[in-house]
Amino acid sequence: MLQRPRRNRKSEVIRQMVQETVLQPANLIFPLFIVDGNAQKTEVNSMPGIFRHSIDNLLREVESCAKLGLKAFDLFPNIEESLKDKYATESYRENSLYLRAIKEVKQHFPEVCVVTDVAMDPYSSDGHDGIVENGEILNDETLEVLGKMALAHAQAGADIIAPSDMMDGRVAYIRKVLDENKFTNVSIMSYAAKYASAFYGPFRDALKSAPKHGDKKSYQMNPANQKEALIEARLDEEEGADFLMVKPALPYLDVIKLLHDNFELPIAAYNVSGEYAMIKAAVQKGWLDERRSIMEVLLGIRRAGATAILTYHAKEVLEKGWL
Ligand code: PBG
Repeated sequence: MLQRPRRNRKSEVIRQMVQETVLQPANLIFPLFIVDGNAQKTEVNSMPGIFRHSIDNLLREVESCAKLGLKAFDLFPNIEESLKDKYATESYRENSLYLRAIKEVKQHFPEVCVVTDVAMDPYSSDGHDGIVENGEILNDETLEVLGKMALAHAQAGADIIAPSDMMDGRVAYIRKVLDENKFTNVSIMSYAAKYASAFYGPFRDALKSAPKHGDKKSYQMNPANQKEALIEARLDEEEGADFLMVKPALPYLDVIKLLHDNFELPIAAYNVSGEYAMIKAAVQKGWLDERRSIMEVLLGIRRAGATAILTYHAKEVLEKGWL
């Protein structure tokens, strides 16, 4: 035998020498849930180790992450039911929980990167990402709300705006609003290929943001489709996106690879709440080795072509010294 691939696996030094993919702290974005109040830190039932933080605790959390070298955060608000309405007006109200959180984080830690989520669902009394009328999601009317939300985020200090709503034309709309208001420097990370997935369940528990009726299939993509991801990605690129995101990550590694191979923009992938919950549940039962399974998942997503990984594992992998 002339070729014995095992020779390149014979020692740890050689294995590392020939390692093709590496994961660095800078590849990670940590999603954080925020809630109103003081000294609040409540664990999400279906996401062991993940908490909803009041702003004071959020600042402590960001500080401890930054010390570990984790410097990018994506914020998501848990909004009281009484503040929700049909038009998600709480999403751009001055001094709202979310806008205060952005401001405080950037004020205390100007060097960290704050990613903000633009979508109506946490603020919508219908629990949808768009305005609902007679059971229909109104696309173009929703864009106006998204524009106001994105502008409010930029004014509060957001570094990257991440529209997760899947309305048509929202990247162009948001880019225009930002530019007209002199926020040419604020980036857009678009959820380009966001699938109608079962794996968002624990996230919707965390935010109490599940749809009150119907499902999200008229705007989120059919899990069976791959070419449709190319259409979405092309539009978002043309409309001015700076990153293209695929979500969820694990059942869609082919889509990550497809976008990586077909676009020059950096690819982000969202290792979502249900993917996190699956691993934690199996680990709790003693069925999986925690460190090895988490690192294999993150490395796999990176290998498929994602340069930015949004993951609830971000802090633990650094805290435990796995990176
Ligand atoms: C909502 C949004 C969702 C997630 C991020 N933004 C849920 C949904 O579309 O219902 C899910 C993230 C996760 O599951 O971790 N616009």
